[in-house]
Amino acid sequence: MAPRLHRFISNRFHRAHHDIQSSALYQEPIHPFTMNSSFRHDPVLAAEVVEFLSPSPGMTILDGTLGGGGHSALLLKAGAMVIGTDRDPEALAHVRMHLSAHGDRFKAVEGNFAEAPSLLAGLGVTQVHGILLDLGVSSHQLDTPERGFSFQREGPLDMRMGRSGETAADLVNTAPAAELARIFRQYGDEPRAIQFAARIVRAREKTPFTTTKELADLIAAGRLGPRHPATRVFQALRIAVNDEIGGLERALPELTAILAPGGRMAVISFHSLEDRIVKHFYRRHSVAEIDDPTWPAPRPNPERIFDLLTPRSLTASPAELDSNPRSRSARLRVVEKRGQGSVVSLSTPSGV
Ligand SMILES: C[S@@+](CC[C@H](N)C(=O)[O-])C[C@H]1O[C@@H](n2cnc3c(N)ncnc32)[C@H](O)[C@@H]1O
Repeated sequence: MAPRLHRFISNRFHRAHHDIQSSALYQEPIHPFTMNSSFRHDPVLAAEVVEFLSPSPGMTILDGTLGGGGHSALLLKAGAMVIGTDRDPEALAHVRMHLSAHGDRFKAVEGNFAEAPSLLAGLGVTQVHGILLDLGVSSHQLDTPERGFSFQREGPLDMRMGRSGETAADLVNTAPAAELARIFRQYGDEPRAIQFAARIVRAREKTPFTTTKELADLIAAGRLGPRHPATRVFQALRIAVNDEIGGLERALPELTAILAPGGRMAVISFHSLEDRIVKHFYRRHSVAEIDDPTWPAPRPNPERIFDLLTPRSLTASPAELDSNPRSRSARLRVVEKRGQGSVVSLSTPSGV
């Protein structure tokens, strides 16, 4: 590891207790909803991402979560070619315009990053030299009432990042109580999961839910504290509606397959469930040896593909925490793919 990077990792970052409870995504409003029509470009852990991915001319980097294009803009500025994916057509329309000055060095494709290999194959690209995932929803999605992610503003109970699939209303109006409770507990860490699920099922028998406010009011039942009682339920529904956990689990091996030897994969997660998936995947494929009580000695790990560049997750610096509240629960983990090859010596994939 380069000395600069090593210093950077060991000095700056501390292990924080970031989990659903501390997630910035659904806490106090990040900024007034009057700003809801604007895309924001304040990418989290941006300096760290650039440092690790080391973008340069000749490199092709996959930004799996384009969002407002904040990270992509920095990667492009450093001379790399960026191919981005996003499930959200609104985000894509914005980012295509925002980054159009980079011409052929930037391409954006609508789709799930879990399907990146086939999306990239459609562009004639089979290998990339860096991968970034900045998981979750964008500030723009959260702040646009019509998208239905926010319990603080009335909108349709939608929550889909893309344009297909079940909405949150479909889910809360049809899922059995046990399934709703599982979602609230597993994806939201909601202590009153069973109670809220039962309350929803009783209410929907009279009138099905159509808006965010109807659901938020039912969960709150008139009790409002510093933290809205529907915080965890909304987060859990969003994760379920978009199959965020399943998508991440499918994506990691798929993305590993298209990463060139010497290339790096950086994932920023915002709650403990997704961070744990990334951590375990990285660890499983980076430990040098595995052991078993029945073996006389440890054996080389046959699944070793990576070198782990972040033994502990990296979190935002105090300065970034001050300037960007969304960075509060962000954790970055990075690996480098082992094997022959150097990202700078690899030629640019044809067809891009
Ligand atoms: C946190 S934002 C990314 C912000 C971006 N890095 C920036 O600097 O502006 C996450 C974006 O990823 C998209 N997204 C989340 N999960 C996705 C998936 N599985 N496939 C494709 N896009 C996804 C969301 O629609 C959203 O636009």
